[in-house]
Amino acid sequence: MAEPRNRYSTVSLVLHWLIAALVITQVALIAGHEAVEGDRTFLNLHKSVGLGILILTLGRLGWRIANPALPLPEDMPRWQKLVARATHLLFYLLLIAMPLVGWAASSAAGRDIVWFGLFNWPLLPIGGGREMAGSLMDLHEAAAKALYVLIALHVAGALKHHFMDRDNVLHRMIPWIPRRP
Ligand code: HEM
Ligand code: HEM
Repeated sequence: MAEPRNRYSTVSLVLHWLIAALVITQVALIAGHEAVEGDRTFLNLHKSVGLGILILTLGRLGWRIANPALPLPEDMPRWQKLVARATHLLFYLLLIAMPLVGWAASSAAGRDIVWFGLFNWPLLPIGGGREMAGSLMDLHEAAAKALYVLIALHVAGALKHHFMDRDNVLHRMIPWIPRRP
């Protein structure tokens, strides 16, 4: 009989940690943008990285469908499994919706997106000018707040598994943490 899988594939691990690092980078780039007035370098980078996250997340979802997630520990209460699954689902939703909304806002405002200085990312056929762009950015900001809540919940959950439940949930996402018997 095949052994039950007890770790994620390297692709899943790399995508998890790369996307997590890029999401933190996104917040740092906005902080940088707010610190330097009138210079759009950080904002342009934020747009490029954000569209990169969109591509990576779509790829990750495809990989996830082909390689389903590991089951959560059997003794985990049902409500905790539900919260964990809902958090993961909402992460995927936000990591697709946020770049799409940002892209739509730049498109409505007619602002070119030059992807990492390499080429002009195509704009979406969205009218409405600055007013529409403003409403879309309100949505982008609200999504950012939701994202912060999810990150806090997610990290608290991961630490609870490791330090309170003392199971292997964190180990399978960070394989160099020793496996518990
Ligand atoms: C912005 C940062 C992060 C994002 C967007 C994120 C997103 C995700 C997503 C979407 C999953 C579900 C994977 C799947 O089943 O398809 C996941 C799993 C996981 N994440 Fe994160 N993550 C982030 C940061 C972290 C951090 C900092 C930790 C550790 C402290 C962590 C620990 C884990 C663990 C242990 C799992 C596996 C849960 C399981 O096996 O069911 N994540 N993460
Ligand atoms: C997953 C990808 C993305 C994440 C996590 C993200 C996150 C954020 C965050 C946290 C903020 C600050 C919100 C606030 O003021 O409270 C922000 C602002 C902004 N984002 Fe994004 N973003 C992403 C993708 C994009 C994309 C693809 C674009 C455009 C193509 C974009 C354009 C903007 C703009 C124009 C602002 C406002 C900057 C300012 O003037 O202060 N974002 N984003």
